[in-house]
Amino acid sequence: MTPLAPENIHPFQSRRQRLLARMAELGGGIAVIATAPERLRNRDTHYPYRADSYFHYLTGFPEPEAVLVLISGAEPQSLLFCRERDTEREIWDGYRFGPEGAREIFGMDHAFPIAELPQRLPDLMANQPAVFHALGFDPDADARITMALNGVRAQARTGAVPPSAVRDVRALIDEMRLLKDDHEIRIQRRAAAISDEAHRRAMGFAAPGRFEYEVEAELLHAFRRHGAQAPAYPSIVASGPNACVLHYVENNRRMAAGDLLLIDAGCELDGYASDITRTFPVTGRFSGPQRDIYELVLAAQAAAIAEVRPGAHWNQAHDAAVRVLAQGFLDLGLLAGNLDEVLETGSYRSFYMHRTGHWLGLDVHDAGDYKVGSNWRPLAPGMVLTVEPGCYIRPGPGVPEAFWHIGVRIEDDALVTPEGCDILTAATPKTVADIEALMAGAARATP
Ligand code: GLY
Ligand code: MN
Ligand code: MN
Repeated sequence: MTPLAPENIHPFQSRRQRLLARMAELGGGIAVIATAPERLRNRDTHYPYRADSYFHYLTGFPEPEAVLVLISGAEPQSLLFCRERDTEREIWDGYRFGPEGAREIFGMDHAFPIAELPQRLPDLMANQPAVFHALGFDPDADARITMALNGVRAQARTGAVPPSAVRDVRALIDEMRLLKDDHEIRIQRRAAAISDEAHRRAMGFAAPGRFEYEVEAELLHAFRRHGAQAPAYPSIVASGPNACVLHYVENNRRMAAGDLLLIDAGCELDGYASDITRTFPVTGRFSGPQRDIYELVLAAQAAAIAEVRPGAHWNQAHDAAVRVLAQGFLDLGLLAGNLDEVLETGSYRSFYMHRTGHWLGLDVHDAGDYKVGSNWRPLAPGMVLTVEPGCYIRPGPGVPEAFWHIGVRIEDDALVTPEGCDILTAATPKTVADIEALMAGAARATP
């Protein structure tokens, strides 16, 4: 993730203050939140670095080897442990902020070299009522907390008392991450706009004879050209029968006339994911059976989107989509029986086997529980989710041959507003007429 512009620091400070206030409500304590490590791809070459989402949410600090410590109490404090400035390493690997930059640019109350963390953490932890830590996710982080606790225990004769409780810090941050603030919504809107452009570009480029990876290259071009740092997840460019493989990522088939092409792709911008799926015919014209299935999935999506509003619960959109799809499967002769039977037995899962959406934010499948206690969570303004029904028809006994190998998914990103929802990805064509018009107007050459 890129370094922060000074005007963007405030939202991170405000999130730290809100987390500190929540910790205080729970009796106070110390939170320890590390960023992600660099990971080797091979020998001495690393994967592109990405900060831990929780750490980024609270700091915006882009470097590896950094740990945030929050201390609640009469004077709440934010401390950052990070790499020191190092002329030699900066010549080879790039700029480092150092503790001074962490204070001045990232608004930390105190900052120290990361090497000092093991000796300072026991003192910071002593006499705190609780340690807020994500237990069990990362053995190194668990070991850091265990060592610090033992460090406090070792000072028992000085009167130091270790925290008596370990609380899940992620659970508190998850609740915050569910409701996007203005800074996050601005980024998510921009990420959606970049992905919209990428999908239009792909639609205007796809043609019989081209390879799926050539279309993927068009998507990546649009992402980077507009400043997105990476795809938010491996792009799915699935033509013909590949559209019925939900997580298809090989993207190496040559497309043929008569294929549908399912593209599920979204960029990551400043840490935030977008997530769009569109499905269209590579010739630019839907066949009759393709259109039947496409219109059905589109109707299911419209029914689901109508259930995305404050007060509606999380699962209403899924229930609405399933109802429309199940009736459509009966009408098209894909299933036998009646609607109640199809819903009760779950036989619709032969053609629709995934759920209709997920939270969207720093993670493509974002943080936050879908239930509160045993009930589905009610939607509230500021939540961002996807709405992505689909239909995937593999050959099989009793399945009309005209529908074989048709796979359709239509996915948009929705921001819950006080009135209902705002579809952040609404500009990406999705009616049959809009798709056919875009493709007819594009200067698509068959290779
Ligand atoms: N692209 C991942 C998803 O749609 O969930
Ligand atoms: Mn999705
Ligand atoms: Mn998707």
